[in-house]
Amino acid sequence: MAIQLDSATRNSLFDRIRFYRDLGLTEFYRRPVDPALLAQLAAEPEPQQSRSASAPEPASETKKAPSQPLFSQEEQPIPPRKPLPIPPEIAAAVPPAGRAAALQLIRDEIGDCTRCPLHSGRHKLVFGDGDPAARLMFVGEGPGADEDAQGLPFVGKAGQLLNNMINAMGLKREQVYIANVVKCRPPGNRTPAPEEGATCSPFLFRQIDVVRPQVLVALGATAATYLLGVRQPLAGLRGRVHAVRGTQLIVTYHPAYLLRDPRQKKEAWADLQIAMRELGLKPPAKS
Ligand code: URA
Repeated sequence: MAIQLDSATRNSLFDRIRFYRDLGLTEFYRRPVDPALLAQLAAEPEPQQSRSASAPEPASETKKAPSQPLFSQEEQPIPPRKPLPIPPEIAAAVPPAGRAAALQLIRDEIGDCTRCPLHSGRHKLVFGDGDPAARLMFVGEGPGADEDAQGLPFVGKAGQLLNNMINAMGLKREQVYIANVVKCRPPGNRTPAPEEGATCSPFLFRQIDVVRPQVLVALGATAATYLLGVRQPLAGLRGRVHAVRGTQLIVTYHPAYLLRDPRQKKEAWADLQIAMRELGLKPPAKS
């Protein structure tokens, strides 16, 4: 039996889960609720909404001990987490002049993809964008509504912030390459399911092998998880240089998270400065 939450509770729960997700805590489970208790709760009258804070509680509501615990005493075993996909072998290097064509071959192979359920809600597949021989590549999670409409990565509000981050590094968007873990929009911008990530991420790895950036930046926990092959909170992955597919990887916050919590922009800038140091870039002089 499903309990109907009012929309304010549902929204705040959604925000809270999204906040945890941004921090890299992506897996949740629900303890099963005793069906007898649910039946009892459903049968109880709604509590009065308009009682003033100082008014005494009616006798029937004071310190009413629940007759049964909210959660079943017998915990169900948590199903084992699916192992992360094993990335394909690193492909042979492609000379810079051949990289655009090599990326096009991957795009052609993806075709009008129906390999995972995400295809059914897709308007446009979002393959990737930018310089095929870029020294710096950004990897996001998956397209949102704007990207799904335009077929290009990071073109919505989060994309505007990413453009600003790129400009702050002294680069133009056209000088970097941008792609996502999944190429079709997950419904409601949810985190891609393990099957979806496992199906699509091999194409991302092949894009990385073609572009061969000197530095990769993982935007958020999903990108970091698939690129590093480990599930770890973002906090433990930021602030250092990792090695992935023969290139250096820096992990930072997803721009959508930074839009929700701008206080973390300073931290993200510190991460980007690590990338700049590796690339030998200096921030542009302030005009
Ligand atoms: N968020 C992502 O992770 N990727 C996009 O392309 C857009 C928003």
